[in-house]
Amino acid sequence: MPFHQVLVVGGGLAGLRAAIEASQRGADCAILSMVYPIRSHSGAAQGGINAALGNAPEGREDSWERHAADTIKGSDFLGDQDAVEIMAREAPQRVYELEHWGVPFSRIEEGLIAQRPFGGGAFPRTCYAADKTGHYLLHTLYEQSIKRRIPVYSEWMVMSLVVKEGFSQGVIAYHLPSGELEAFGAGAVIFATGGAGRIYNHSTNAIINTGAPMAVAYRAGVPLEDLEFVQFHPTALYGTDILITEGARGEGGFLFNAQGERFMERYTPTAMELAPRDIVARSILTEVQEGRGFDNAYVHLDLRHLGREKILERLPGIRDIAMDFAGVDPIDQPIPVLPAQHYTMGGIETNSWGETRVKGFFACGECACVSVHGANRLGGNSLLDTVLFGKRAGERASSEVGAQGEGNADLKEALAATRARLEALASGGGREDPSGIRKEMGEAMMEHVGIFRDREAMARGLQKIRELRERYRHIRPVHGGRRFNLDLIRTWELEGQLELAEIITLGALAREESRGSHYRLDFPQRDDEHWLKHTLAHSALPEPRLEYKDVTITQWKPEARKY
Ligand code: FUM
Repeated sequence: MPFHQVLVVGGGLAGLRAAIEASQRGADCAILSMVYPIRSHSGAAQGGINAALGNAPEGREDSWERHAADTIKGSDFLGDQDAVEIMAREAPQRVYELEHWGVPFSRIEEGLIAQRPFGGGAFPRTCYAADKTGHYLLHTLYEQSIKRRIPVYSEWMVMSLVVKEGFSQGVIAYHLPSGELEAFGAGAVIFATGGAGRIYNHSTNAIINTGAPMAVAYRAGVPLEDLEFVQFHPTALYGTDILITEGARGEGGFLFNAQGERFMERYTPTAMELAPRDIVARSILTEVQEGRGFDNAYVHLDLRHLGREKILERLPGIRDIAMDFAGVDPIDQPIPVLPAQHYTMGGIETNSWGETRVKGFFACGECACVSVHGANRLGGNSLLDTVLFGKRAGERASSEVGAQGEGNADLKEALAATRARLEALASGGGREDPSGIRKEMGEAMMEHVGIFRDREAMARGLQKIRELRERYRHIRPVHGGRRFNLDLIRTWELEGQLELAEIITLGALAREESRGSHYRLDFPQRDDEHWLKHTLAHSALPEPRLEYKDVTITQWKPEARKY
């Protein structure tokens, strides 16, 4: 049975950064990842990473305090302010570290790292490498992990987290190429497994972003926090849901409806296209729903006035995507866009060191809820979250390296139990087709628990998700083989996705207010008196148990959010 002092589950930015830190601090650390690390979804991040460097000529007055204030206001005051302060203060160090490790950031004339405006930011604060920032960061961190000889168990899927008397012992994982199961003992386990976008049918997320590992943690007794806050990115390429970076609006792109109006004037006349994402996404959807969209379906993102040179220099990837997938060249034609699910604000409850209620179990990156993003994340804060809280989780985990998972009888028992569950699923004699259930789940979440919500629709959504959970009991994977049986593993993950879908819906139904991404037509106001609090979902029968905890407020008193 393999044993490591620190086992990081997930090979994206948060996982790599956590592993690098743990390894630098002398821990025997390994990464276990569903995909080869440089295929992680972090590589799809486009627009950039926030840090108050004050490099842009119009941004010289920027400071960590302004970054923190913008983040808290963007979060609709649900972000924990102590954690946001840490993030904003440490951001410049993390960005310079990436620069020194070799990230080829775009530059301004004086040679400093270039920064572009992003939604909800008072200054140009988003450091970027053209429109492929995540790709460059991922490759750079992967190089750093190779330099430190950090071993990678590639194409392994985590199935269970083994916890005994409040202490994490390790994980049970499935080897995709062979179909074998293995127990991995670990002094500390760090989950950096990404978001849960694929619970929704329209998402910018990769297929691997099922969120199933969050359900693994939840079943092991770790609460999930604020899962009802689901971010829709305003501009996904219509018909494909591929991300069209906010950087396109940061560089000056306009949004137009079919009547030729720059319609953001109606909603946020000051911030216009650079209001926070929740507001822009709602505005676009309102235009479409009220009949002012093109073909009653989408709006236009127009970059033509930026000129060929700027588009080629700063947005080359967007141009390629628009040409390859929509047949439009943004130099000459506007891009058809519509919001799509993009980010999971909630996740595994952690403190600012990635620690959870289970000793020796940590989480960081999108699967975690620290919470710095609250009810609505600002663009550019996600890449920052991954490297910054990834580092902190790696640091703390490496200081806690015990040997509790070594040669451990509980792990062997858990391995046998997980194997039996998998066998039962693989040989199930039911009639239900997994892809049908997955599709219906995604549709139900889009329709009932999407950008606009109300009690009646969500109650229907909850009923539907519960019906799908019941049908899942009679599921039958289509393919019976073992080697690279993606049908089987996606069917396994679907159970976790349905659990998360239920938690999202329950949390959203209970929260009778509108805050950030959670917009209720029947409760359109924010209600600080009753709802300035985080939701925690605990695993329980017959349904998840919800409880609430206070938001940490330091120096920013909640006020009306105006843009
Ligand atoms: O629009 C984007 O480039 C996405 C950035 C983010 O989600 O932070």
